[in-house]
Amino acid sequence: MHGKYIMKNPSTLFFTAFLLSTLAAPVLPGQARATLNVDLSRPKAKVSPTLYGLMTEEINYSYDGGLYGELIRNRTFRSDWTGILNWFLIEKGTASAKVSVDSKGGPSTALPSSAKLEVTKADLNSPAGLLNEGYWGIAVRPNLRYTGSLFAKSDSDSALPVRIALVADQSGQVLAKTSVAVTGTGWKEYKFEMQSGNTAASSENHLELTIDKPATLWLQMVSLFPPTYHARANGNRVDLMEKLAAMHPSFLRFPGGNYLEGNRIETRFDWKKMIGPLVDRPTHPTTWSYHSSDGMGLLEFLQWCEDLHMQPLLGIYAGYSLGGQVVKPGPDLEPYVQEGLEELEYVTGAADTKWGAVRARDGHPAPFTLKYVEIGNEDNFDRAGTYDGRYAQFYKAIKSKYPDLQIIATMPVKGMTPDVVDDHYYKREQGMFAEARHYDNTDRKGPKIFVGEWATREGSPTPNFGAALGDAAFLTGLERNSDVVVMSAYAPLFVNVSPGGMQWSSDLIGYDALNSYGSPSYYTQVMFASCLGDHTLDSSVSGAGDRFFYSVTASPNKLCMKLVNASSVDQPVTIALNGLGDGTHTARIDTLKANTTWATNTITHPERIVPVKSTASIKGGRVQHVMPAYSIQAVQIDLK
Ligand code: AHR
Repeated sequence: MHGKYIMKNPSTLFFTAFLLSTLAAPVLPGQARATLNVDLSRPKAKVSPTLYGLMTEEINYSYDGGLYGELIRNRTFRSDWTGILNWFLIEKGTASAKVSVDSKGGPSTALPSSAKLEVTKADLNSPAGLLNEGYWGIAVRPNLRYTGSLFAKSDSDSALPVRIALVADQSGQVLAKTSVAVTGTGWKEYKFEMQSGNTAASSENHLELTIDKPATLWLQMVSLFPPTYHARANGNRVDLMEKLAAMHPSFLRFPGGNYLEGNRIETRFDWKKMIGPLVDRPTHPTTWSYHSSDGMGLLEFLQWCEDLHMQPLLGIYAGYSLGGQVVKPGPDLEPYVQEGLEELEYVTGAADTKWGAVRARDGHPAPFTLKYVEIGNEDNFDRAGTYDGRYAQFYKAIKSKYPDLQIIATMPVKGMTPDVVDDHYYKREQGMFAEARHYDNTDRKGPKIFVGEWATREGSPTPNFGAALGDAAFLTGLERNSDVVVMSAYAPLFVNVSPGGMQWSSDLIGYDALNSYGSPSYYTQVMFASCLGDHTLDSSVSGAGDRFFYSVTASPNKLCMKLVNASSVDQPVTIALNGLGDGTHTARIDTLKANTTWATNTITHPERIVPVKSTASIKGGRVQHVMPAYSIQAVQIDLK
């Protein structure tokens, strides 16, 4: 991904080529020259290798209509007073048909209803059927294989051909097609594949399922996938996975967030209903105003971790739901504690344990490695104040079975010291500048800190450059204090930018059905995570304006500096690298820069603000440098 950065702005490139030259740069009006002293011979504190990770939940159509590759919206035929959502009747030519929800039976206990299509008049030239609109369209790209399946039955024992096609909305052109022969009056699953031709990539397409003779057809779980990342069945969208991979994430916190809690206990992340065949998953309403297909279930999260070499950080439901329902600690909570223990066994148990065997049945015999588990989410909102008791009950039960697990609390707990406490920050730019110093004086004898959700919230749907500056400033504070802040994750990660797709503004990565883009905040994290040493160094800065932030980490073979000038004027800075020696060293510099804090990337202008790469040679330990106005830099200096 790094190699793909465009050298967009030749003047910036020219500028950065001079960044670490030994020539004295002119001091510009408005900002005095600062001095940054770094002592390479004085390591200060450890840096956590898991500092950078991801946080995710079903919000802003993050999975359905987002990362999860499914192209069919409402594949389980839910309906409201308007009819079956996202599905529409097709009656071409002289065809006559009607569609309804048949609640008298579906293909599984989890899906007890289906769509009943009654076609009273149809022929080859006048087919009838159903149209699915997808998630704001269906992306069709040239020469691609689409893989689908559906459950169906008919009113007759003879074969009923069902034609399946991806059709262009405007022209009506059939872009890919196939058919299945539905046979008999009992539910069966039918699988199919179809291939697009040499067409232009577009998302203005829909799916059509049609028949060309009078018949009654019942349908359920109609599913269609494009090729997915690592070619996984029921897998993830390739462009979004590639964007995540470029962030070098070390862990994935899932499944929330408020999505874990649900608005009510019944709509929590009920993991047992989100494993196994899709037809056995009942689906459920989320806290974020839309319904989840639950295709992204517990195993899919774990496979996502596997694909990006992240360790899972599993949030387990802890008896508090967003609408205010609380399960009292003690006997009332015990079933939820057991549910959590069983979930841990599904994730980590050998294939001969009860729940490990279920995971093996689901296609993954090998247990997953789990180091961190989080008890609930944002339990500071529990007005009944029961978290101390709930955390303690989960802690005791989990530690007695899994003594090596680190158990994260969502808030400080009275009466015991949690292994790790999860802190959340959502602030404007200036608020995040202030938080950059938050952990400088934190008690190192207390629990470790997980900054499980954070973001500078300026810009919508994705953050603007001012937000990226706030983020970068905040991250310098996390790097500096990474002996105590062991993990961090931005939230929310994703937003579908189509109309109505967003429930929470300022999200890291935006997309529609066809394309995706990274916000300036995204590129900031790509840059910060691309170079991280294993310890901090003794360092100090003097003479800088109050919008200058930095961090310095090092490993035996590299020095990583993060520099942030959040001011509207250039910041000259003398960088004294004491102990670098007399040799020549190569510095690789990534610069992210904008003209205003309101500058941003969008789905139609995805690369206005991207890192610009440059290199420089450093000789001697004193570097005269100018940080451009509104700029963020990640500098890697080879130490060998
Ligand atoms: O990230 C959006 C929401 O913010 C999360 O679901 C919740 O944990 C927090 O309040």
